[in-house]
Amino acid sequence: MSIEQTLSMIKPDGVARGLIGEIIGRFEKAGLKIRALKMLHLTKAQALKFYLVHQERPFYDSLTSFMSSGPIVAIILEGDNAIQVNRDLMGATDYRQAAAGTIRADFAKEIEANLVHGSDSPENAQIEIAFFFNALERV
Ligand code: CDP
Ligand code: MG
Repeated sequence: MSIEQTLSMIKPDGVARGLIGEIIGRFEKAGLKIRALKMLHLTKAQALKFYLVHQERPFYDSLTSFMSSGPIVAIILEGDNAIQVNRDLMGATDYRQAAAGTIRADFAKEIEANLVHGSDSPENAQIEIAFFFNALERV
């Protein structure tokens, strides 16, 4: 058993399409606990900073414009193996390769607007959690 925290985001497409409850429901049904949650609208500069790891990728500009195009929901999830459990619920980055029953397979229609973000390692989870939440906001 390894209790972890991970950073999830419901991206602008998930918020705009009314899928906040559906997505959070999947997290809770899978046994992940919500430890912090907020809705906010990232600026382009903030999106560029959050996705700095992808700055050399061809999709960096488009991705960060999309991520600052509307409100998002940032969530700290906690549970046994939370990072992998969340990635399994999300499905593969490309919805066409995502396993049936995953959030991306069920709802995504394009590779960029793929509904959810999830941290990919304990190190990045800590960096991403600190990006969105200060100590007072974490329970
Ligand atoms: O989100 P995930 O960790 O599964 O994928 P990533 O490789 O870290 O890429 C971050 C985000 O960039 C993806 O979730 C997509 O929204 C976007 N992306 C894209 O638009 N085109 C690609 N070929 C790859 C990723
Ligand atoms: Mg990633």
